[in-house]
Amino acid sequence: MTVLEVIQRSAEFLAKKGVESPRLQIELLLAHLLKIQRMQLYLNFERVLTEAELEKLRELVKRRAQREPLQHIVGSTNFCGLEFLVNRQVLIPRPETELLAERAWKFLHDRGEVNANPSALDFGSGSGCLAITLAVKCPAAKVYALDISAEALAVARENAAKNKVLERIEFHHGNGFSVLSAGGKFDLIVSNPPYIATDEIATLEAEVRDYDPKLALDGGADGLGFYRILAQEAAGYLAASGKIMLEFGEGQADLIKEIFQKQKWIVEAVEPDYSQRLRFLIARRA
Ligand SMILES: C[S@@+](CC[C@H](N)C(=O)[O-])C[C@H]1O[C@@H](n2cnc3c(N)ncnc32)[C@H](O)[C@@H]1O
Repeated sequence: MTVLEVIQRSAEFLAKKGVESPRLQIELLLAHLLKIQRMQLYLNFERVLTEAELEKLRELVKRRAQREPLQHIVGSTNFCGLEFLVNRQVLIPRPETELLAERAWKFLHDRGEVNANPSALDFGSGSGCLAITLAVKCPAAKVYALDISAEALAVARENAAKNKVLERIEFHHGNGFSVLSAGGKFDLIVSNPPYIATDEIATLEAEVRDYDPKLALDGGADGLGFYRILAQEAAGYLAASGKIMLEFGEGQADLIKEIFQKQKWIVEAVEPDYSQRLRFLIARRA
């Protein structure tokens, strides 16, 4: 069977199984298997696959048809131009979170005028995508990564080593701020906390519902539990004129703004994602 025939047949199969963008998915799987760029497939449409290659591809396609995310099958994903290992212990970094990372590293760069070695806390670090990106983009910054999942922290450490910033990040394991030493102050607190309402988790796409860790999704009865904690407790860990930058879910903007304003935060901005949906909050103390 040729590359083109395999792509066409597998795309049809994946479409029947409810996989979104089936043609793109099979192209990415095949490129991964053949260790070439996806675009190179187009120059090799007539190439005949060996029986061994077909056998391996069948296995990968079967996994994707069972709705295992592509990133788990290939074992990594790209975030802000860096490579991150991912598995079932960590949320797969999402493209929109790159917007939060960019906001955060710009703030840390500017903060250099106030503090030559600004510090940043990533609350709920998961794969480490935010903490590691900040450490890479801001060589002067000291970064702290906090997560309740020891398994996620192990992945984050691996990712930090892979991106050569392991020694610049301090990892903390535990439930929220309680594991940080009192009095510690950060120039920036950044977080993409769990924000799905518990009952909504069952309604999510299979790739998310069955493969992202529940701990990374579950934001409590109304999905806003972590924002209440952050609004109440983060001020005690923020340096003077420091900022908090958060991601939240679609439709949560007004509620989250209210939660922060009630706790005496000054909301500086609520910003949209690539689809113009409000998804990010930037706030500071008076
Ligand atoms: C939505 S994921 C975000 C991961 C990563 N920052 C990202 O943007 O891809 C939320 C993370 O918060 C962690 N988490 C959940 N409850 C927590 C808690 N009580 N204290 C600290 N971290 C927690 C989860 O383990 C998960 O890694």
